[in-house]
Amino acid sequence: MQPLKRGCVQFLLKLSVGLVSLGTFYLVRQRTDRTLGYRWLEYTEDDGGPEKACNCSGILQGEQEALQQVKLLTITRDFQKNIQIPDEYYIYETQDCRKFKLKRKYLPFPLSKEEEDFPLAYSMVIHHKVQNFERLLRAIYAPQNIYCVHVDKKAKPSVTAAIQAITSCFPNVFLVSQAVEVVYAGWPRVQADLNCMADLYSASKKWKYFINLCGQDFPLKTNLEMVRMLRSMRGSNSLESETVPADKKWRISYVHEIINGDVKTTKTLKNPAPFNLPIKSGGAYIVVSRGFVRSVLEDTRIEMLINWFKDTYSPDEFLWATIQRIPGVPGSKWPNRKYDQTDINALARLVKWENHEGSQDSESAVYPKCQGNHVRAVCVYGAGDLQWLLEHLHLFANKFDTETDPVAIYCLEKYLRHKALAEAVGESV
Ligand SMILES: *[C@@H]1O[C@H](CO)[C@@H](O)[C@H](O)[C@H]1NC(C)=O
Repeated sequence: MQPLKRGCVQFLLKLSVGLVSLGTFYLVRQRTDRTLGYRWLEYTEDDGGPEKACNCSGILQGEQEALQQVKLLTITRDFQKNIQIPDEYYIYETQDCRKFKLKRKYLPFPLSKEEEDFPLAYSMVIHHKVQNFERLLRAIYAPQNIYCVHVDKKAKPSVTAAIQAITSCFPNVFLVSQAVEVVYAGWPRVQADLNCMADLYSASKKWKYFINLCGQDFPLKTNLEMVRMLRSMRGSNSLESETVPADKKWRISYVHEIINGDVKTTKTLKNPAPFNLPIKSGGAYIVVSRGFVRSVLEDTRIEMLINWFKDTYSPDEFLWATIQRIPGVPGSKWPNRKYDQTDINALARLVKWENHEGSQDSESAVYPKCQGNHVRAVCVYGAGDLQWLLEHLHLFANKFDTETDPVAIYCLEKYLRHKALAEAVGESV
């Protein structure tokens, strides 16, 4: 071969090798970009408070050593002082929304097409503890979902201002158009959710399922996991709905009045429910289809039922459970007892009631002892409850509190974010 020709062939060979490796380089870079592009959304120790000293992977596996370490850490005065965040902090930090969302690592885009095509609507009823609210919002936030926040009319002004400041940073998070003064066990608690339902229903035609929350709930599933579970329900609803226990009958048999912010039982018997609809017992928290919400807002039978419930005790425990068994309501079940659903079997909410705690060898116990502390006979979860919580199918659990056990929320939010990002790049966890 002539020297010139040989040089030419060598040049072409080098060129093609070069092009191939350039191509490979771009492919690899794109892949790492995608992974890196998600990695910056991972919660790291840099954005954790004093909880970052904990070993979350040990805690999630229920390891005694890791749990013991949590106990030692959380009793120190320094720790207790450092976990408090004043309401004013949120007002200051949200002056620059872009910075706030970056710093707090709010998801800036849907993590998958599947989630984008299945938006969720949330009603969040809040009255205090802004830090709990912000941690919860961050955990469930996705740009394709929509969030209505009801702040109690009698909340502290700094709480209302802080929550208003946070919501103003997101186009898809808004304050309810009509806030009410919530009364314990009274009708206004239901009205708060109803007002959010109406706002969410008219704000967007796209969302598929409705979930209501309070400030002390926290998710147990990623948004993708929720979307998949909800899609598999094929339009049915998931909430507690059972025969009314004998010791609760008085709550719906007598007329009640709200006097100075307290619900009082009168001696007047109530009339039967409209159309003699069978009343069922359940809880305040529901996971329901868009069609269910449409019925609540437009079905005249339900309108009459709502009016009938206004003077009962703790109507949130009965109203949703009853609507869930009305013929023709989308996603509902027949009123027959065979379709009764307990809180343990519904997806809506996992709660540990103090009187149901115990050991597995006792037939009266429903779940193991609370590892945190109790508020009004409900467990406020501790780090030691996490392993048990994550064994369940429920979408959300109640109660969590950043002030009494911040480690439980810290490890849970870190676990969920890591899982969501891993799902997004197609890794298995
Ligand atoms: C945390 O717990 C995991 C799981 O048991 C263990 O493998 C790891 O060594 C622990 N890490 C530290 C820093 O103790």
